[in-house]
Amino acid sequence: MHHTLSFLMFRICCSRLYSRLATPGQRRLTAFCFPGQGTQTVGMGKDLADAHPVARRTFDEVDAALNDKLSHLMFNGPLDKLTLTANAQPAILAHSIALLRVIEEKTGILPEQFGCYLGHSLGEYSALVATQAISLSAAASIVRLRGEAMQGAFPGTLRPRMVALLPTTPAALQPILQSVNEQFAASATKGTPTESCDIANVNTPKQVVLSGSETAVARVVDAALFSKVARRSVDLNISAPFHSRWMAPAADALRQPLGRIKWRDPMSPVISNVTAAEVWPKDLPAAL
Ligand SMILES: *[C@@H]1O[C@H](CO)[C@@H](O)[C@H](O)[C@H]1NC(C)=O
Ligand SMILES: *[C@@H]1O[C@H](CO)[C@@H](O)[C@H](O)[C@H]1NC(C)=O
Repeated sequence: MHHTLSFLMFRICCSRLYSRLATPGQRRLTAFCFPGQGTQTVGMGKDLADAHPVARRTFDEVDAALNDKLSHLMFNGPLDKLTLTANAQPAILAHSIALLRVIEEKTGILPEQFGCYLGHSLGEYSALVATQAISLSAAASIVRLRGEAMQGAFPGTLRPRMVALLPTTPAALQPILQSVNEQFAASATKGTPTESCDIANVNTPKQVVLSGSETAVARVVDAALFSKVARRSVDLNISAPFHSRWMAPAADALRQPLGRIKWRDPMSPVISNVTAAEVWPKDLPAAL
């Protein structure tokens, strides 16, 4: 569960969607990068649905796949319910795809005209839907399951924490992580979960996100700041320690449902958030 977004990935993320027109058959040198959790907000997609029937149909499609009026929750809140990861994940997926379809309809640009697609965390599912590797309804069901499994994977007796540290590198943090995790493992008591901290993401060459149980993350952050391995920390507002070892049971829970999905070859390259290389359908169940 230790993922690395390479520098290449960072550069692709930075390249913005802009409207330089490609001639037919020509690929644009533009990447489409979809957001992950944290971007949900009450009212999301309402303007799109009101103005564009294609967006409304997209939200209806997701509601039907989930058998749940998710779009009502997106448009009207409440925020704490929308923020629950089992709701936030399909909501962000639905919003991303609705926006993409509106762009396609309004500009006539086809998915295969973009250079490549990628996404942060669950945004990789949006990228797979955008390139038609997976249907929207199948992806909506999977990310709902994913959200439920992720929320259930962390023990209620601990508090989660995720922190971005900067400027720093995984290599500089590794010795601190190892020593903190060893300390907790050594003092672990039977029957209670062992505190731990992992590297969740490498956001940029100089920004690393840590994830784990609160006490362990705090110990790593303190040590990193004290020894000047990093200068600054920024807390993320999360409900579970995403992309840490705590999420392993969630990965197990998704293995079977992912195996049942009918994948197609993506119409444009999808860049993996783990390897920063192209992902192919045959590798998807393992890579996700
Ligand atoms: C974090 O998210 C929760 C749930 O949506 C919200 O109630 C809270 O105000 C947020 N906290 C911060 C510091 O943004
Ligand atoms: C990478 O994408 C997969 C979906 O394809 C997702 O399950 C995983 O959490 C993502 N990892 C990161 C670090 O964004």
